[in-house]
Amino acid sequence: MGGEFIKPIAKLGGQIRVPGDKSISHRAALFGGMAHGETHVTNFLLGQDCLSTLRCLKQLGVSWERKDTEVWIRGEGMESWQEPADVLDAGNSGTTFRLMLGALAGSPFTITMNGDESLRTRPMRRVTDPLKQMGAQIMGRQGDNLAPITMRGGQLEGQAFKTSVASAQIKSAIILAGIRAKGETSVEEPLLSRDHTERMLRGFGVDVQSRNTLVKVQGGGRLQGQGVSVPGDISSAAFFLVLGSLVRQGEIFLPNVGINPTRTGILDALMAMGADIEILDEAEICGEPRATLRVRPAQLRGTEISGDMIPRLIDEIPVLAVAASLAEGETLIKDAAELRVKETDRISTVVKGLQALGVKAEELPDGMRIQGQRTLLGGQASSLGDHRLAMAWAIAGLLSQEGVSVENMAAADVSYPDFLTVIKKVAG
Ligand code: S3P
Repeated sequence: MGGEFIKPIAKLGGQIRVPGDKSISHRAALFGGMAHGETHVTNFLLGQDCLSTLRCLKQLGVSWERKDTEVWIRGEGMESWQEPADVLDAGNSGTTFRLMLGALAGSPFTITMNGDESLRTRPMRRVTDPLKQMGAQIMGRQGDNLAPITMRGGQLEGQAFKTSVASAQIKSAIILAGIRAKGETSVEEPLLSRDHTERMLRGFGVDVQSRNTLVKVQGGGRLQGQGVSVPGDISSAAFFLVLGSLVRQGEIFLPNVGINPTRTGILDALMAMGADIEILDEAEICGEPRATLRVRPAQLRGTEISGDMIPRLIDEIPVLAVAASLAEGETLIKDAAELRVKETDRISTVVKGLQALGVKAEELPDGMRIQGQRTLLGGQASSLGDHRLAMAWAIAGLLSQEGVSVENMAAADVSYPDFLTVIKKVAG
């Protein structure tokens, strides 16, 4: 097996400015396209996922311009959206796919959405069912569950939904459709998922009410274009939080990282494991809190990660599993069956990847059990096209004794295009 060889490092230091938050970048682009007037986004993530959202908007007739990480969107309201001449391609992005469906459910024309090989296996009935109940006509493979999915939007009626999984994509799709529906739409989740949609919509002037796990929106709201400053992505910072905790020497500063409480499970989990992380210079901009994170090496202990912590760190589990492999004792991750329907089945792919690197790890139906060990020998691992796996295995390589060769490292482009350059820089 070829791949990108990531050699071990003993120390690192300095400052790493992680790219813009993926969830927030998607929403800034989409809401800008739904709004009236100009939306100016700074620190937009140039990952393939967010570029897919921008491309879909262009196909709907929304005009925007981008210069590096700055995007100007000239919104003329959702009424101005036109039936696209071709299939909307969400690439690898579940967020593009599900949020676009929600936003388009009230448009009186027909669209077909598709995605890459991974996205075409991911469950969509979780959004197509509620959108159909609100009045959209939807057809897709396997009982309207799998892409390609075709939808004819139209008059929507507000509804009250209770979801069985905590998912910001489901919640957001329903809220976005709710803005265009008659009457009130509400969503109640079993546990609170990330709330960027609620926060940003308020900034765009929409009356979104939320209390604990219940969100309500009134139909007929109008979005007004805004300035959006995107914080650094804590899901990208997570790789350096783990690296900085387990490297032998050095101190890293991560400025301007988003610390929205629905996303900070990684900080809580690592601190419970004994990590030395400090949160400095806290500020709130555009409704989203952010801070500089300082991380220093520490001896980590195994822990249990479960319950309402899971939605707060769901995307960080691959790299947390790497941390658990080098912690003292056992780590148990449960209540995380959602991992099975991410870009890959991350219970199976993470456990198999760790095993390939010589770690004792066991698959559970809703999580995994990992035995920590003193050292990680290294070896070969594949991203299987999953961006978070690519980066988790690269971190394992930096922390290993003999290095790790990561097959399809380029998958990292989905959320962190410069990752390898940064890694090469920190590795000297
Ligand atoms: C996201 C929500 C989460 C997360 C994904 C981004 C979002 O997915 O895993 O990477 O931007 O809303 P679910 O909503 O399916 O849990």
